[in-house]
Amino acid sequence: DRYNVAVVGATGAVGQKIIETLEKRNFPVGELKLLASARSAGQQVQFQGRTYTVEEALPEAFEGIDFALFSAGGSISEKLAPAAVERGAVVIDNTSAFRMVPEVPLVVPEVNPHMIGQHQGIIANPNCSTIQMLVALKPLYDAYGIDRIIVSTYQAVSGAGQNAINDLLDQTRAILNGEQPEPKVLPVGSLPKKHQQAFNVIPQIDVFTDNGFTKEEMKMVNETRKIFGDPDIQVTPTTVRVPVLYGHSESVYVELKNSFDLEEVVQLLQGAPGVKVIDNPEAQEYPMAVTAEGSYDTFVGRIRRDLFHPRGLNMWIVSDNVLKGAAWNAVQIAEYMVKTR
Ligand code: A2P
Repeated sequence: DRYNVAVVGATGAVGQKIIETLEKRNFPVGELKLLASARSAGQQVQFQGRTYTVEEALPEAFEGIDFALFSAGGSISEKLAPAAVERGAVVIDNTSAFRMVPEVPLVVPEVNPHMIGQHQGIIANPNCSTIQMLVALKPLYDAYGIDRIIVSTYQAVSGAGQNAINDLLDQTRAILNGEQPEPKVLPVGSLPKKHQQAFNVIPQIDVFTDNGFTKEEMKMVNETRKIFGDPDIQVTPTTVRVPVLYGHSESVYVELKNSFDLEEVVQLLQGAPGVKVIDNPEAQEYPMAVTAEGSYDTFVGRIRRDLFHPRGLNMWIVSDNVLKGAAWNAVQIAEYMVKTR
């Protein structure tokens, strides 16, 4: 069986990786529709040895589509996802538009695949920082329970889209040439004030909310609770942008509900789906952004007992934010649906 697939935002940082991932996984694509803004219409893209032409994303484009993978921003999803569902497509949405809608499953296949079957047309992909954290915490959650998570992120600019990637490269070149760059995109594309990202660390991702946390941080709080189905779990995030192109890193401190054995923790992580443990301090081995770049896995290292809290555990979690954090998680959901239908 073959499936007709639409990629909305096909020219973007995530869209391009979705196309690449469909090809790499040999997903049974019948017809492929590559959709973007009118600016990109006519652009040509190679897929499985054929040339496809990018079209403007319009409601009619979803006629006959089985899977529509969206990554063109929240407002495009709000506008076009219902049009795709009306035409019989299953939408897998990478934006935050529908994540917290109660009827919409918010899915990480390693964590809550059982939610996929409950969809009513739309399945949401969680935020990239949430996905990799939960892939790593799932086996510990199941074995010991989790009371609280304190997490600081070191996030790549690709999470803010292709323009942010290009701007970091431009800024870096300008500074190395002795020029003063004019930052154009970060921290938040839609806000007028910009900060230099090259050779700099910015403690703001997305806009601030009234409680002093940013929207990105509140996504980590609310999505973690929804995915684990646990409204009591405490999450304290600080999300930070670093001058890295691909790969989010996270310093994670968890307080487990029950006492744990460190060796058992490592074994559980080693056996967990989607997880690779790299943890050998003596040999200076630990995951880094460059370790994760291009991989579907979530890497865990620096696993150590807290110095003070008897049920406290520290670790370092790294994954490719545009793959497991977006494109691969979306394709993985589609693969799951194909396999279980
Ligand atoms: P385009 O390249 O034509 O602007 P990124 O996350 O890397 O910024 O990518 C955003 C994606 O969303 C791009 O593919 C972009 O297409 C697409 N996009 C932006 N605005 C629209 C729109 N109004 N309609 C459809 N797609 C859009």
